[in-house]
Amino acid sequence: MSLLEVEDVEVRFGGVVALANLTFSIAAGEIFALIGPNGAGKTTLFNVVSRLYQPSQGAVRFAGTDLLALPAHRIAASGIARTFQNLALIPGLSVLDNVAVGAHAATSAGFWRSGLRLNRGEERRVRADALGLLDRLGLADLAQRPCAGLPYGTLKRIELARAMVARPRLLLLDEPAAGLTHAEVDELGGVIRSLRDEHDLTVLLVEHHMGMVMGISDNVVVMDLGAKIAEGPPADVQANPAVIAAYLGAPVEEV
Ligand SMILES: Nc1ncnc2c1ncn2[C@@H]1O[C@H](COP(=O)(O)OP(=O)(O)OP(=O)(O)O)[C@@H](O)[C@H]1O
Ligand SMILES: [Mg+2]
Repeated sequence: MSLLEVEDVEVRFGGVVALANLTFSIAAGEIFALIGPNGAGKTTLFNVVSRLYQPSQGAVRFAGTDLLALPAHRIAASGIARTFQNLALIPGLSVLDNVAVGAHAATSAGFWRSGLRLNRGEERRVRADALGLLDRLGLADLAQRPCAGLPYGTLKRIELARAMVARPRLLLLDEPAAGLTHAEVDELGGVIRSLRDEHDLTVLLVEHHMGMVMGISDNVVVMDLGAKIAEGPPADVQANPAVIAAYLGAPVEEV
């Protein structure tokens, strides 16, 4: 069954067509990658799915319901969480509190209306979940220290924990491997797979790191200039001439 269906979606910014007739669907449990050169429209699609951008055309359904009918503040509660291409952590807050903040968006009250207040049962659940995720991601020792000054790769993992604490069904990851070392990228790929397996997750991954994309994805959509140019399992898209051309002739595994 499809968990996310994107159908004929168009987004324009003035004269720029950021997404053009984009159609694809993601089955529950998949790791699904969206790749393409800079400016292809990948982050724009994330912003459509998280209801920050309103498409001028098309439909998006999540678990069979019309996502475009939901206001942005209901998205997290509906089961969708994301990380940001540019980190969105609060430097002065502890690592644990930064992760726990992710759950507020997913409570019935919603992030803004709750004023960062949960009832005591929810609060206990959130802190236990947050600590469990920090432990799972090798960050338990850092729980009580502020995020400020931590290495970039660590901050990216904290952002991942923050998205997961909302207990999403669909996790949107925007360039989670950017700025990581090779060893960190390999490790992250394993972490994403095991989070998927352990939490019944579906993952939509935007990533330039082709080794990771091809290594962990079940299916890949390739975009260029807002449009889909190829779709299929990693081995198929890697061999697709249109994909190779979009990456300026470089074999995809070297990009
Ligand atoms: N808020 C906006 N206002 C105007 N133009 C925008 C806006 N957001 C995106 N665009 C334009 O839409 C196009 C797609 O941008 P987008 O950020 O989705 O690309 P991307 O595939 O995520 O690229 P990258 O790999 O560099 O992150 C670009 O031409 C970009 O300049
Ligand atoms: Mg982007």
